[in-house]
Amino acid sequence: MSDPSTPEAPAAAYSWLVGFDGDWRDTWWSQDFLELVAARLGLGELRALVDVGCGVGHWGQRRLPLLHRDATLVGLDREPGFVARAATAAQARGLAARASYRQALAEALPLATASADLVTCQTVLIHVADPAVVVAEMARVARPGGLVLAAEPNNFGEKASALVGAPGLSRTDRLALLELEAVCQDGKRLAGSGDSSVGERLPGLFAAAGLCDVRVCQNEKCAPLVPPYDTPGERTELRQMLSWIDGGVWLGVGGTREQTQAWYLGGGGDPARFDVLWSVARREAEAWKAAALAGTVSGARGPTFYLVAGRRGP
Ligand SMILES: C[S@@+](CC[C@H](N)C(=O)[O-])C[C@H]1O[C@@H](n2cnc3c(N)ncnc32)[C@H](O)[C@@H]1O
Repeated sequence: MSDPSTPEAPAAAYSWLVGFDGDWRDTWWSQDFLELVAARLGLGELRALVDVGCGVGHWGQRRLPLLHRDATLVGLDREPGFVARAATAAQARGLAARASYRQALAEALPLATASADLVTCQTVLIHVADPAVVVAEMARVARPGGLVLAAEPNNFGEKASALVGAPGLSRTDRLALLELEAVCQDGKRLAGSGDSSVGERLPGLFAAAGLCDVRVCQNEKCAPLVPPYDTPGERTELRQMLSWIDGGVWLGVGGTREQTQAWYLGGGGDPARFDVLWSVARREAEAWKAAALAGTVSGARGPTFYLVAGRRGP
């Protein structure tokens, strides 16, 4: 990570917190499942793809090869450093001639109305102040009959499942961590930084934006860990988890202690209780690390990750 005093530090820190570095985000989806979804939605005929909040390019660049062979991709993100990295990644994947990237806000896409066949995003609506505004923008840019497709989680559900069988935690500890997660998610939303469980609300948001034929499914890819963790996917997952734990973050919405505290207080949490909850959070992380290094962590580790599609009417 860069020196926190440099202007690049917030983007660099964010990049690490959301797992942009390395191939972790490429392990989220199975290729055959993406092909199944592409067949169901008829993506093979589509030629103009927009990736909103593209980050460093992972999501759009996995989608593009599933579209028509001449399809082009426009990726947009508010962070200039990320769009530059996305362009470099497109080059490395041999997609440079078909992909372009620019800085833009999801709330005001610099694209013509009805200009795209498919407007998509992944883990972006969980970060915006008003997801209804962004979904409406995505629907505006889709052509009549075109698709809006969003992949967004319910991170509260995911935290609850991660706590099932968490090593070294009592029931009181697990409930304390759910309390911390719930209060922090409220604080994050109230701060205008997004609803980390927005996936649950997406079908309603799509319908409210006038999208029709709304279809909902879940990502079927889990991130199981079974000792001795010797598959490439397990090694990538362990590396990512240990990087966060060694970096001092909590495996919940807040990440760093500072951010967790700010959202906890903003969500109406009791200031006198924060240190207690944070110490449980760190204990969770350190116990998980010790168990992983001892080869005793084991779990199905399914996500609560929705894929919601809607079609713009005529
Ligand atoms: C968790 S990352 C997801 C990146 C990418 N979609 C992926 O799945 O790998 C969220 C991205 O959304 C971008 N973002 C957040 N709010 C935004 C906004 N209001 N307008 C444009 N981009 C935004 C962030 O800069 C970040 O790159």
